[in-house]
Amino acid sequence: MDIRVVEGNIAEIEASAVVVNIFEGVTEPGGAAAEIDKKLDGAITALVADGEIKGKRGEFTLIHTLGRLPATRVVVAGLGKSDDLTLDVVRGVAGGAGRFVRSKHVASFASVLHGAGAGGIDAEDCAQAMAEGTVMGLYRFDKYKSKSDTDPVEEITLVTLSGDGIGQIESRVEKGEIIAEAVALCRDMSNEPANTMTPTAMAEHALEVARDTGMEIEVLDRDKMAELGMGSLLGVAQGSSEPPKLIVLKYHGDPDDEDNSLGILGKGITFDSGGLDIKGAAGMLTMKGDMAGGASIIGAMGAIARIKPKVNVVGIVPATENMPGGKAQRPGDVVRAMNGKTIEIGNTDAEGRLVLADAVCYARSLGLTRLVDVATLTGAVVVALGDLAIGAFGNNREWTDRIIEAGANVGERIWELPTYPEYQRQYRSDIADIKNTGERGGGAITGAMIIGEFADDAAWAHLDIAGTAKTSRNSGYTPKGATGTPVRTLVELAESVSSS
Ligand code: BES
Ligand code: MN
Ligand code: ZN
Repeated sequence: MDIRVVEGNIAEIEASAVVVNIFEGVTEPGGAAAEIDKKLDGAITALVADGEIKGKRGEFTLIHTLGRLPATRVVVAGLGKSDDLTLDVVRGVAGGAGRFVRSKHVASFASVLHGAGAGGIDAEDCAQAMAEGTVMGLYRFDKYKSKSDTDPVEEITLVTLSGDGIGQIESRVEKGEIIAEAVALCRDMSNEPANTMTPTAMAEHALEVARDTGMEIEVLDRDKMAELGMGSLLGVAQGSSEPPKLIVLKYHGDPDDEDNSLGILGKGITFDSGGLDIKGAAGMLTMKGDMAGGASIIGAMGAIARIKPKVNVVGIVPATENMPGGKAQRPGDVVRAMNGKTIEIGNTDAEGRLVLADAVCYARSLGLTRLVDVATLTGAVVVALGDLAIGAFGNNREWTDRIIEAGANVGERIWELPTYPEYQRQYRSDIADIKNTGERGGGAITGAMIIGEFADDAAWAHLDIAGTAKTSRNSGYTPKGATGTPVRTLVELAESVSSS
């Protein structure tokens, strides 16, 4: 898909479809929609008067121009209430418009920058949001379908008002495309079934990202992990015949200042059967997606290496299956993590914290002092927050705030839960330093805190994406399936660290 930027008047553009917009509650269209309305002899105004067009967010109305405009069709997109307009609304409208147009079998279309100008949004920010939203909204995972329902959209033309400064707008569109492609990579990996998205396949995707961007990469195999003493990760991996991989991507954006660095880590369980504490059928069904955190790291690292913020970023993905079998780890086993801490296995299904424990130790061994891990860690966070917000946990006020703010800047909602030291009691073990489980109450918190036990004095935060990594319905820029969260937050975080 190609996104072009042209300066001009959308009413004069020749296209299979042009997309304009209208706010909720207005009686007359404004801006480009007004001009088109005039050429259509007031068709839009009439549809508003009739109540067919209400301007609500998510509403798209198709008008055939029948020769009255150079464009064959006009799509009027509802922007919602003008007071509620944000860049994230722009992303959502752009994504929804893309899918709407595609469903009409239109392979190319032009669009105004929704909300720029009259709506008060800066044209450059808007252009990036339009590119992100359109590419993310048009994403689909159809590689296993013999035939797609509709042909792909080939070309999108963003029409800016003259004087907006086309060069700057083009570069922001390009940035939007880079970010949306990173989200797409994350979604692709997460949507891929577990029989193909093995730890080895994850490593191959990371190798490809590294090759394309000139990024440094290291993939540690089972022997290397054993040498480093990663007994916690290897305990999870021992039940599977798929070889585990510890994927380490290194982006050197500030080579003169090694301390200006950031470690991003992601759970890469390519299939979570639960292990010997095996899951039921319903709980197991979606567990190909248990590597979504790791996929978000690989996606974000690719975008970071292309956008080039002035900061060093290390991406770490402990990738393995969690399977039962004759070699599998047992409940009651004791494993030793890379830092020497021992962990009693209270439940083999609490495996995410076990693989992340060694990944955090490894990050510390590289000298990283600012860490964030991303994981589909607990069912408990789904109970707490549903599929609307990522759960956040941390040991450092400023660092956690910074991550929450990065999310807010890009439209990914992150909500913090406490990590009071009194919760530690829940994961005390009679025979080892800690165990990998707590009680039912506060399950998302103890899961997080067990990972935090390995962070030492590093600023550490944990994002539980068990509820947000996939969605069951199309909405705005997020089609059904893997969402690609929190790739955009991670990219924004790297940029925010670079500019301070
Ligand atoms: N991968 C699951 C968590 C999960 C649940 C992700 C639902 C997405 C949707 C994790 O490994 C797990 O099994 N967690 C257990 C922990 C428990 C055994 C302490 C859980 O949440 O039930
Ligand atoms: Mn599990
Ligand atoms: Zn899991």
